[in-house]
Amino acid sequence: MPDIGTFVFTSLGPKEVDFVAVASEEELPNGKRIFVTVDEYNLVVFNIAGEYFAIADLCSHDNGPLGEGEIEEYEVICPRHGARFDVRSGRATALPAVVDIPAYPTRVTDGQVEVGLPL
Ligand code: FES
Repeated sequence: MPDIGTFVFTSLGPKEVDFVAVASEEELPNGKRIFVTVDEYNLVVFNIAGEYFAIADLCSHDNGPLGEGEIEEYEVICPRHGARFDVRSGRATALPAVVDIPAYPTRVTDGQVEVGLPL
């Protein structure tokens, strides 16, 4: 099990997640993001230079929404107080957040962007 406060969903194997289609590739072109809710998961999915990244739309600093934040390289900057998270891993990289957030594996199947959610 991961340490408390550390999410490693991106390293879950294919048998540990259910992949769910969230958009077509056309709906999520380079530089865009979408917000989706699947079951209890509120997600934001980014296309950064043709790669897809999915994280929880939740800042661990104050449980506020995170997904509208600016992107710098592979970091999203929380619009509320400026914490940063690596969208590839969910790792908190700048204060005031110190707790990582979930980051989910992604893949493309038949033109559909899919996100892997823990079983
Ligand atoms: S809620 Fe995100 S930095 Fe405070």
